[in-house]
This record gives sequence, structure tokens and C-alpha cells, in this order.
Amino acid sequence: MKEQLEAIQAEALDKIKQATDLKELQDIKVTYLGKKGSLTSVLRGMGKLSKEERPVVGEIANKVRESITGEIEQKSEVLEQAALEEQLEKEALDVTLPGRPVQLGGAHLLTSIVEEIEDLFIGMGFEVREGPEVETDYYNFEALNLPKGHPARDMQDTFYITNELLLRTHTSPVQARTMLQYKGKQGVKMICPGKVYRRDTDDATHSHQFTQIEGLYVDENVRMSDLKGTLDRFAKKMFGQTREIRLRPSFFPFTEPSVEMDISCKVCNGEGCSVCKQSGWIEILGGGMVHPRVLEMAGYDSKKYTGFAFGMGPERIAMLKYGIDDIRQFYTNDVRFLSQYHHAKGGTM
Ligand code: PHE
Repeated sequence: MKEQLEAIQAEALDKIKQATDLKELQDIKVTYLGKKGSLTSVLRGMGKLSKEERPVVGEIANKVRESITGEIEQKSEVLEQAALEEQLEKEALDVTLPGRPVQLGGAHLLTSIVEEIEDLFIGMGFEVREGPEVETDYYNFEALNLPKGHPARDMQDTFYITNELLLRTHTSPVQARTMLQYKGKQGVKMICPGKVYRRDTDDATHSHQFTQIEGLYVDENVRMSDLKGTLDRFAKKMFGQTREIRLRPSFFPFTEPSVEMDISCKVCNGEGCSVCKQSGWIEILGGGMVHPRVLEMAGYDSKKYTGFAFGMGPERIAMLKYGIDDIRQFYTNDVRFLSQYHHAKGGTM
């Protein structure tokens, strides 16, 4: 029996040595140590042994079992380690490979330019206001000294919704709305960016919907020189310290006197070229001193209060600043165009 046990041990240890995976090892365990395993069946025959032989054989059998169990454990650790290493190798990541570039988005050029203009005026003490795009005829026209039938209404072809409701043609109604909120009792210093609508046929310089930024400063002793100083500062910050401005007489029903402001052409430095149509100057906004009737209608005593107002188109400002020649570029949203301006102020995420 002793020889039998030793043969089993030798055979088992040899198989364990040759095993190449955990499944095989498990099978070996069952073959030798399992309920129907060969060691077990030898042990079953121990009943036939004499009293003296039994403990001797028992001890040998235990040793054989221990040695097989121990070898299986050791081998299974070796195999597990090998399997882990193989898996690690297979799934290895090359961290030195360059990653796939992530396409970063950015603010739309129009958003950037509006924010830049806002920052500039906030720095001069203006607050930022908003007003409705669907506006009443009253605020869009009448409160701005443009009664029904006034010929200057034709300057702004209007999308009417009903007789009294329309899509605002400019941001000027926010002048009246803001002044009414202040109830004629204190000064107003605000800008208002927003969308406006006109019945224009879209082309390189016209769009049925575009953006305006309104400015309004009403207080005691606000003068034309304040308007000029404010706009000069704006132009120099926006277009460079060497830009000059010039105010030309113009007409708006809600300002008196009214002006249009030009900046000196940066392409030719005032000499005259095709960009400025040989004049050396480029028109960028309209403005003037708030008409006394507009102040009165909004509840301000026009003997005590005076003010200036202006309105500009940020698309036009961006076009001049970046040499863009078609206003439709702002609305067709071609990323190849827009991504060129992600470096513009406020344009990074
Ligand atoms: N609202 C005028 C326009 O749209 C611009 C403007 C604003 C002029 C304020 C004077 C004062 O053309």
C-alpha cells in the first residue's frame, strides 16, 4: 500500500508540474483528492490493514495528501500570476501615444464683440439693460417722437404683427422703457444690446435681423461734449489709439441735434481707399442729444435734464475690426469661419 501511495504521489506531482492552466490543475485535484479520486479510494482500503500498519500508512497517506495539496496551491499561484501578466501585457496602454485632439468650442464672434463693447461701457459707468424684441408701436415709434404717419417711420421698414405690435426695428425703445422705470427722478446711464428686425432683403451689408447696442446717458448737465468724449474713448479702445472720430450732422426724430459718427479709415489712414470709398472715413454709428419731447414723454423735466443717446451695429463694428465683407457670415454659422475668431476677446471657453 505504501508503494501504491508513493506511486500516486509521484504521478500527481508530475502532472502538476506539467499543468499549463488553472482548469487543468483543478482536474488534477479532483482526480487525486476528490471523493472518487485515487488517493481517496486507496484510503478506503485501509480498513483491511492490521492495527499496527494503519497508523504508519495513515501518516504516509497524510503526507501524500499534504504534498499534493501544497504543490497544487503553489502551482496555482504561479499560473494565476502568469495569467495576470499575460492579461496586463495584452491590455497594455501606450501612454506615450499622443491623444486624439478635442475640438474646443468658443463663443460666437458676435457674442464676443458684444461682450467687448459691454465691458468698455461698463468701465465708463454704464449699466446693461434688456428690452423685448416684440415691441409695441408706442415704444418703438411714438415714445421716440415718431407719431403715426411720421415720414421718418419709412427709414425703418417694419415687420408688423398687428397694428400695435411689431418686431422692434431698433433698440431705441429701451431708452423710453428705462427712463420710465427711473420715473424722471434720477439720471440714467445704460447700454442695451439686442436683436432688431427690418424688412430688408438680405445681401452683403443688409440682414432682416441684426444686432444693435443702444446707449443712453441722461442727467443734469449732460452735454454734446460728453457724447463726443464717450464715443472717442470707445472708438480708440475698439479700433486703436490712432483712430480719429468725426461727427457729422444727421437726422433722427428722437435726437436733436443728431449726428453720425465716422472713424478714420485704418486701411489708408485717412488718405482715401476703396474700403472708405476714397473719403478717408468710415461711418459707424448714429447718435445725438435726446430730444426734449422724448425726455418729457418719459417723465423727465427737459429743463432740468439733458442727455445723449447713440445706437451702433456690432456686426458692422466686427466687420470693420476683422475685415469681414459679408454680414451673412454672422448667421450662416460656418464653423470654419467662426473658429477663426475664437481668440477674440471672451471667445475661449
Ligand atoms: N435707433 C437709430 C437707428 O436704428 C440709432 C440711434 C440711436 C440714433 C440713438 C440716435 C440715437 O438707426
